[in-house]
Amino acid sequence: MATETLHAVLAKVEDALASERDGTRAMERVVAILKREMPSYTWVGIYLLEGDELVLGPFLGKPSPHTRIPLGRGICGAAATEKHTIIVDDVNADPRYLACSIETRSEIVAPIMSGTRVLGEIDIDSDRPAAFKAQDKTLLEAVASLLATKLERTP
Ligand code: SME
Repeated sequence: MATETLHAVLAKVEDALASERDGTRAMERVVAILKREMPSYTWVGIYLLEGDELVLGPFLGKPSPHTRIPLGRGICGAAATEKHTIIVDDVNADPRYLACSIETRSEIVAPIMSGTRVLGEIDIDSDRPAAFKAQDKTLLEAVASLLATKLERTP
């Protein structure tokens, strides 16, 4: 991803969220922008942490069988437990991976944090191997941080 793309997509997310008060609507708008702007992002979704489980919220792409993921499971569970972004270049070589679609080749999961508390995470799958680089991590961590301010206000 070019640095210009990173800044352009981030600006679109900032614009969309500036007027958004509702947490669910904010998540829907983020998912729509990322799916539309980033051709390699095949599946884009947001999980919210409820107790010890990640619960699937808004997503675009094929329906996933993993609508509730316990913290100890999957790449999603690992990112929430470790509280940092995880990039997997080859999902089929990662024993933690929970398959969503057989076409998926790589994945990135960025936690949505409020201070040290995990609110949820942005999960993205790509049909391309090793689709996610440092710029994707930078973009998604910035988006997660913007989204956190909207989700903190949701009771
Ligand atoms: N692959 C994820 C599960 C979620 S689906 O990709 C939508 C994981 O390993 O946690």
